[in-house]
Amino acid sequence: MRVRVLGSAAGGGSPQWNCACPPCRDARRTGRNRTQDTVAVSGDGTAWFLLNAGPDIRSQILATPELAPGPGLRDTPLRGVLLTTAELDHTIGLLSLREAVRLTVHATPAVSAALQTAFPLRSMLAQYTDLDWREMPERLELDGGLIVDRLTVGAKRPRYATGTPGEGWVSALRLSDRRTGSSFVYATCLPVWTDAFDAFVDGAAEVLLDGTFATDDELTVMTGRPGSAAGMGHLPIVDSRPHAARHPGTRFRYGHLNNTNAMAGDDVVSDGTDIF
Ligand code: MLT
Ligand code: MN
Ligand code: ZN
Repeated sequence: MRVRVLGSAAGGGSPQWNCACPPCRDARRTGRNRTQDTVAVSGDGTAWFLLNAGPDIRSQILATPELAPGPGLRDTPLRGVLLTTAELDHTIGLLSLREAVRLTVHATPAVSAALQTAFPLRSMLAQYTDLDWREMPERLELDGGLIVDRLTVGAKRPRYATGTPGEGWVSALRLSDRRTGSSFVYATCLPVWTDAFDAFVDGAAEVLLDGTFATDDELTVMTGRPGSAAGMGHLPIVDSRPHAARHPGTRFRYGHLNNTNAMAGDDVVSDGTDIF
């Protein structure tokens, strides 16, 4: 199994264009850049899938040799996209994939509904490409030998979709390599660590966790803007670390960092990090 982080930041990226908070200033000074959360996965190194499609998808694909087109004129190793939320930072990259001859997208009914009614991305895209939109089941087998299990971890609707009915708004995915049995869990939006989530990560080799905020009050401390991590549907790192520590056989790392989060270290991924 191959797993590459294409983008390691939350919505807005880091630095954020209109933000002069201390970590953003620091990022500008040092040239440290994080693009928005998207991960590329493959079972065989040939057939690749994206976990979400953020606004930076074009530059992320160009920076990833494994995703280069060929040998046919419009052949691409990209076989599809799996959405874990309907948030703009996870979905508007689909519009930048409209040149695809065919585009396969897997999403829950709630996410699909938001992208059909509140924000009609799906019908827009269908005018540009042969769009193959599929309902994501609890278990799915992908080309290249990856088995995907899905767990609903949150009920937060995107702001543009307030009032859209449904469940399955925020998912975690567990990808298992059919040959080796090795597993990777992707959970960059995790509001709370439930027993079900604990069982979901149990025995996984690698987990990419929600690293949006280091602490619950980070946004206000850094920018003076209102909003707690809990209120925004993101379990802060200080609160997930003790849970992670109960799984010593699993490596936990953090992605989807907000620009206010200056945390660094071995357990924070960067753009281009190979998890497997
Ligand atoms: C989130 O992760 O909570 C959302 O992407 C927030 C946003 O940028 O709208
Ligand atoms: Mn986000
Ligand atoms: Zn900032």
